[in-house]
Amino acid sequence: MTNVVIGAASGMGAATARKIAHRGRLIVADYNLEGAEKIAAEIGGDVKAMACDISNQTQIDALMAEVGDNLEALIVTAGVSGSQAPGRRILEVNLMGVERVVRAAEPKVRPGTVAVLVASQSGYMVPNVPELFEVIDNPLAPDFMDRLSQILDVDVSSPCYQLSKRGVHRMVRRHAKSWGLKGGRILSLSPGISDTPMGNEEIDNNPIMLKMVEACPMGRPGTPEDIANVMEFLTSPAAAYMTGSDVLVDGGMSNVLPMNAWEGKIRLPMKAGLAPRF
Ligand SMILES: NC(=O)c1ccc[n+]([C@@H]2O[C@H](COP(=O)([O-])OP(=O)(O)OC[C@H]3O[C@@H](n4cnc5c(N)ncnc54)[C@H](O)[C@@H]3O)[C@@H](O)[C@H]2O)c1
Repeated sequence: MTNVVIGAASGMGAATARKIAHRGRLIVADYNLEGAEKIAAEIGGDVKAMACDISNQTQIDALMAEVGDNLEALIVTAGVSGSQAPGRRILEVNLMGVERVVRAAEPKVRPGTVAVLVASQSGYMVPNVPELFEVIDNPLAPDFMDRLSQILDVDVSSPCYQLSKRGVHRMVRRHAKSWGLKGGRILSLSPGISDTPMGNEEIDNNPIMLKMVEACPMGRPGTPEDIANVMEFLTSPAAAYMTGSDVLVDGGMSNVLPMNAWEGKIRLPMKAGLAPRF
């Protein structure tokens, strides 16, 4: 049995790797190899660190070759935020990269295999625009970026981040049937604003996020451990009937706060005047 965490060098990925290490063979992968090696050394035992940039197909293939035929849990926390990269790069990593990983893992799915892809509560802020969904539902299409740029400005980071995460919510729905036919499960997990290097950088750059944290029912940011605890459950047999859906771990932010309070502040800059449909 091999468990894999991609994005394991920091934040939620590192916490999840520590949490599930007792299960047996573990691969901790990250774009930041040095960071992954540090986590592997800290955990010790049957843990291998690997370099993997999820926007690079060759590196994903090398990772999957190392996994072998006994894939148990595949956890993808790797991602970049609006403060860390331009819009196109965010889409290449958070949406196209995650789809590449899912497709590369698909031949390895067997009874009991489970994937959990980290999305975000911000994915729920994307309006329901069917034309947009049609494009993000096929992120590896050769004309993906061209088609998307006809609908919204792909150079603006924050909406691309939200969109990439909404795309992940939809991705697990799309793949659930083929994974289920082989006895596997696939889910997404949407954290709220969390106390990690990425989350803290976002709060520093967007003071409204601090207000959202204060106003949410739990009144505090999430911790990497909050996420790792749910990851442990979702990847365990106790969650055997869960697949194809998103699991919100956001301190109540998305469903309890009146999200229209943030309207006008967080909005996709639609180019063609496309209206949300409900
Ligand atoms: N922190 C938050 O507030 C928050 C909220 C919602 C969702 N998320 C999502 O949670 C996930 C984990 O974030 P975190 O808060 O632990 O951040 P983090 O910055 O601590 O960790 C992210 C990790 O992803 C790795 N990474 C970045 N690009 C990569 C690539 N192309 N290939 C492989 N690895 C790559 C980084 O090296 C880093 O180790 C991300 O997908 C993020 O979008 C975070």
